[in-house]
Amino acid sequence: MNFPAYRPRRLRRTEVLRRMVRETALTPDDLVLPLFVTFGKGVKKPISSMPGHFQLSVDNVKKEAREVKALGIPAVILFGIPEKKDETGSSASDPKGPVQEAIKAIKDRVPELVVITDVCMCEYTNHGHCGIIKDRDVDNDSTLDLLAEEALSHARSGADMVAPSDMMDGRVGAIRTALDENGFSAIPIMSYAAKYSSAFYGPFREAAESTPEFGDRRSYQMDPSNTDEALREVALDIEEGADIVMVKPALPYLDIIRRIKDNFGYPVAAYNVSGEFSMIKAAAEKGWLDGEKAMMESLVSIKRAGAGMILTYFAKEAAKTLGKTFL
Ligand code: PBG
Repeated sequence: MNFPAYRPRRLRRTEVLRRMVRETALTPDDLVLPLFVTFGKGVKKPISSMPGHFQLSVDNVKKEAREVKALGIPAVILFGIPEKKDETGSSASDPKGPVQEAIKAIKDRVPELVVITDVCMCEYTNHGHCGIIKDRDVDNDSTLDLLAEEALSHARSGADMVAPSDMMDGRVGAIRTALDENGFSAIPIMSYAAKYSSAFYGPFREAAESTPEFGDRRSYQMDPSNTDEALREVALDIEEGADIVMVKPALPYLDIIRRIKDNFGYPVAAYNVSGEFSMIKAAAEKGWLDGEKAMMESLVSIKRAGAGMILTYFAKEAAKTLGKTFL
C-alpha cells in the first residue's frame, strides 16, 4: 500500500464516489430532540442563549411534537420548568406538572413519537441542586426515593422511557425497582451513566432555570480528567438495570463514547449539550464558520465515535439537512 500504487485521492474524486465509501451515515433515526416544558398556556418564550429553542407550554409542545414526527425524528426528551420550586423539589412528582401533562398530550396526539423524560431534581429545587441538601452537599441516599417517585410519576403519565441525569449512586437500581414493583417492567431506563461536570451546560441552565444557588455539581458529576471511572459508572448502571447508557457532553468526550462502545455490548447514547449547540450558533451568527456544515460534522463525528443515539438541539435542523441531501 505505497504511493504511487495507492492513491487515497482516487476515491475522493466525486461526490458519488465519496458516498460509496462513506463509513458513517447519519439519519434522522439517530436523533432525539430535547424540549423544555413550562406551565401556563400559549407560552413560547425564547431561550436567548439557544437560538430557535423555547420554553413551551403543553399546547405548544403538542404542536412541536407533530412537527418533530413529520421530520422523521423518533423521540423527544422532556425537561420541566415547574410553577413552584421548594427545598425538596416536591413538584417533580406532581401528576399535573408540566412534564406529566406534556407526556399525556403527546401520547394522545402523536402516539408513535417516543417520549423520554429527564429524571432529576435540579429543575424542581429552589437551590438548583440535583437532590436533597444536607450539610451543603447533596445527600445521596435520601435523594434516591425522590428520583424513584419522579420516574414512577412519569411512567404513570405514559412516558416511554426514563432518563436519570442526577448522578446519584444507586439511582438506576432504585428507579428499576420502583418501576418493576408498580407494573412498569417494560419501561426502559436510559441512564446518564458518564455525565461530566461541565462548563458546556451553561445555556441549558438558563433554559431550565436550574443554576445551582451555591457551589457547583462537582461532588456528584464526574471529573473531566477521568476515563476509567466512566467505565466503572457504566458497569454499575448496567448491573442496576440500565438499558441504554449515555455519555454527556459529547464532543469533548468522544474518547469516552468509543471506550464504552468497545467495552460493553449496550446501546450508547451521547448528549450533544447546550454549550456545544450555542458555540456553533454564536460563531455562525458572527460569520466565523458555516453553521450547517459545523452541525453536520459534529453529529457525524459523535456517531462515528460509537453513539447510536444523539440527543441534540440540532435535531430538527439536521433532519431537514439530511432530507435535502438525500431527496
Ligand atoms: C439536569 C441536566 C442538565 C443537563 C441535562 N440534564 C444540567 C446540569 O447537570 O446542570 C444539561 C443539558 C445541556 O446542557 O444541554 N441535571
